[in-house]
Amino acid sequence: MARRSLAAVVLAAGRGERMRSSMPKVLHEIAGRTMIAHVLDTLGELAPQRAVCITGPGMDRVAAGAVPAETAVQAEPLGTAHAVLAARDALAGFDGTVLVLFADTPLLRASTMQALADSLADGAAVAVLGMRPSGANQYGRVVQDVGGKPQAIVEWRDAGPDVRALPVCNSGIMAVDGRCLFSLLERVGNDNAKGEYYLTDIVALARADGMGTALVEAAEEEALGINSRAELAGAEAAMQRRLRERAFAAGVTMPMPETVYLSYDTRFGRDVTVGPNTVFLTGVTVEEGAEIRAFCHLKGAIVRSGARVGPYARLRPGADVGPGAGVGNFVEVKNAVLEAGSKANHLAYIGDAHVGADANIGAGTITCNYDGFRKHRTEIGAGAFIGSNTALVAPVTVGPGAVVGAGSTVSRNVEADALVVERAQQTERKGWAARLRMRRNRQSSGD
Ligand code: UD1
Ligand code: MG
Repeated sequence: MARRSLAAVVLAAGRGERMRSSMPKVLHEIAGRTMIAHVLDTLGELAPQRAVCITGPGMDRVAAGAVPAETAVQAEPLGTAHAVLAARDALAGFDGTVLVLFADTPLLRASTMQALADSLADGAAVAVLGMRPSGANQYGRVVQDVGGKPQAIVEWRDAGPDVRALPVCNSGIMAVDGRCLFSLLERVGNDNAKGEYYLTDIVALARADGMGTALVEAAEEEALGINSRAELAGAEAAMQRRLRERAFAAGVTMPMPETVYLSYDTRFGRDVTVGPNTVFLTGVTVEEGAEIRAFCHLKGAIVRSGARVGPYARLRPGADVGPGAGVGNFVEVKNAVLEAGSKANHLAYIGDAHVGADANIGAGTITCNYDGFRKHRTEIGAGAFIGSNTALVAPVTVGPGAVVGAGSTVSRNVEADALVVERAQQTERKGWAARLRMRRNRQSSGD
């Protein structure tokens, strides 16, 4: 049977008071991306004919993140049924299946969304995505008939002990026949504990009209709805487990995976090794065979094949560590390219710079890239050797093959293959220290 056309409504408005936040709930992040972006991205896999995101007034950032979905504004957060009604204009004339998704349920997989939509195929008007959580929770409960079909959904606050004891909980996600969605929603009232228009009421309304309902069950983890910071942390943990699985599948070795933090977009080649306690923020690519040792912090960086980073290194946006290059302990790299085979092995800051192939940056080297007003660039030629504790005062160029003596402050360009040393003359007085000691000893014995 041909699949019916699909539209989706993603609910992103509402107060989310339990987050105790000045930011809309659905803009809180999991693995470096907002909850709403996770949902829209997953939805994209289903390629719905229409997608409408319901935001609240002034939630411009939600709307901006919601592309390519259309947005409709729910003027007041009067409940989930009221929110779906805001999609009426955007869905005018649509008679396929409407998937109602919650932006606060970011772990739902595309295959589950599709299974729910497909469950309307045998004529049901409303399909509910249920779950069986292992622990105590305050989800709505699905009341089933003898055949297991949903008869009603009762919100936790409105349920008595018998209903609260029911095993199947409501994930909130539904698929509804577009031909009857809005007529059902119009009949939802707000006579309940919260005084809200509950989407969940359409199940009983459909049944009262003799329409069929269906239940699809999802794993608890996928259907996790986030209403508090603690639940946000729970979803983060689940997402991290998924991302680690993805990294393993890509061929990454991680001896202590539970200590590695990944972003939704972290990309790994084969045979990468990641040591314990490393943090990958957004925009990081680690190519084949590269090694990230323990305690590193990376964001917006690329580590090319066979490179070695850490332990205790920090790569900031624009860091590009070339093939076989090395960035060692307590080295910070920002907006800088380290070409193949170059090395900064200890205690350095390389910012707004280009380091040529096989150059060696000694311990304590600093690119002084900021003059208090603007940033300036440092250019280090291929094969150059920068002695320890060098300050490179940008803008400045050290030519290929040049050597900078340790302790220099280099503020003028250095020619290729030159030696530059910028230090005070070293003076030496023979026997001076011995004479001083003798004098001091005489003074103290005379005390
Ligand atoms: C909802 C369900 C509950 C289910 C739970 C699962 C209803 C009435 N209840 O409760 O049965 O167990 O999800 O997580 O549906 N929203 C709006 N406008 C509003 C209110 C909410 O857009 O006026 C959006 C929120 O941004 C959120 C989603 O709808 O993404 C769900 O709202 P929320 O307040 O979190 O509902 P729950 O109390 O979690
Ligand atoms: Mg919720």
